[in-house]
Amino acid sequence: MRVVVVGLGYVGSVCSACLASRGHSVVGVDVSESKVGQIEAGKSPIVEAGLGELIEEGHRSGRLTATTRIAEAMPGAEVVLICVGTPSHEDGSLNLDHVKGAAGEVGTALRGSGTFTTVVMRSTMLPGSVENELRPVLERTSGLVAGRDFGIACNPEFLREGTAVADFFGAEITVIGAGDPRSAAALSAMYQGVGGDVVVTAIRTAEMLKYVNNAFHALKVSFANEVGRWARREGVDSHEVMRLFCRDTRLNLSATYLRPGFAFGGSCLPKDLRALNQRTRHHDLELPVLGAVMRSNERHVEEAIHLIERLRRRRVGVLGLSFKAGTDDLRESPILRVVGTLVGKGYSLLLHDPNIDMERVLGANRRFVESEVPYLPERLRPSAREVVEGSEVVVVGNDSREYREVGALLKPGQALVDLVHGVDRKTVAHAEYHGLAW
Ligand SMILES: NC(=O)c1ccc[n+]([C@@H]2O[C@H](COP(=O)([O-])OP(=O)(O)OC[C@H]3O[C@@H](n4cnc5c(N)ncnc54)[C@H](O)[C@@H]3O)[C@@H](O)[C@H]2O)c1
Repeated sequence: MRVVVVGLGYVGSVCSACLASRGHSVVGVDVSESKVGQIEAGKSPIVEAGLGELIEEGHRSGRLTATTRIAEAMPGAEVVLICVGTPSHEDGSLNLDHVKGAAGEVGTALRGSGTFTTVVMRSTMLPGSVENELRPVLERTSGLVAGRDFGIACNPEFLREGTAVADFFGAEITVIGAGDPRSAAALSAMYQGVGGDVVVTAIRTAEMLKYVNNAFHALKVSFANEVGRWARREGVDSHEVMRLFCRDTRLNLSATYLRPGFAFGGSCLPKDLRALNQRTRHHDLELPVLGAVMRSNERHVEEAIHLIERLRRRRVGVLGLSFKAGTDDLRESPILRVVGTLVGKGYSLLLHDPNIDMERVLGANRRFVESEVPYLPERLRPSAREVVEGSEVVVVGNDSREYREVGALLKPGQALVDLVHGVDRKTVAHAEYHGLAW
């Protein structure tokens, strides 16, 4: 394919050389004459393992050339990858000036072109940037309509400096946020044979994914470092702890606990985090990430309460009271915080949980109910149907299987609040559906 890469920095020079090595015909563009000169001389403009060889090979085969003028590179281009910088403004906000400048030049070059060109944002940018800021620039400067006359896409870059070439070819997934099917097809063809699966998604999802990835990587570094500082103070080998931590790929390094849902609770996580925080405070250790987790969880519960209050209806039914499906353990169940707040505010509540039968709630669990949620027994009903029929708002508070199709019981005028992403939305045909974080 004929590919133009705008911006020959860390991302652009790696993309150019790797795509050329896959047999594509690549023209790199940069405002910097020295970077263009380097590529034209078959040399790498940056230090990066394996890149020099690829650029030299691309130069020798004639598949990789460079210029300072976008207009010169554009004729016949099927794909244009914009890889210019997106630095921070002084206040931390995203500066799209370079991308807008490059998009304007690409748009001008598209004017009157007979080729369907897909313009791809490879630079990192916040959700909505392509649609709200760059599409208008491209349409204005080209006089064309995106999706009809030219394509538009976002293809975030996941490479790491130092291992960028290996990351390009060995990517777990290549993500294409496509505005139209032709763009999705063009990019899928361009990436054929490179790395793992090519995944096509919405542009906004692709834009956001890059930030979510980087936020998680940063969180992992900070988490491990906080564990290290705590371990050192305890006389524990932090590397041994984390080595063992990483051995558990079922609960620790896995997709478990990474689906947006309701707050955590139960008899272990809150108690253990409190003890950890108390101990590290005692050591005078400042661990901001670990110290903020309980507050983040609280904030999520408050958001659930606000969501229900905003519906402005007083009869509320809550389905699922224990902190997760398949247990009758009510201790520190976050939904009980929601229930308690609503009771305190004078709401009328009906409750159900398939595993809670007051006659069989015993021991510590019973003492918890008597002291913390004494209003629970009189509001408990034996069936979800009874709760739904007596409520204006139905809240699903845990992911019990029997609530999955509860939407079918709702009538027009009723609202369903799904706190756990556990309800099959197709069943909520007649009522309103409100998700907590989706
Ligand atoms: N560096 C990384 O490891 C990495 C990884 C993933 C994503 N990203 C993202 O990719 C983007 C590019 O990052 P980078 O590190 O390659 O930046 P960089 O600063 O190394 O390179 C950007 C290049 O764009 C050129 N440029 C600017 N305006 C131009 C224009 N109008 N026309 C032509 N060239 C122009 C600059 O001269 C520069 O050479 C950023 O959004 C960054 O956040 C970077």
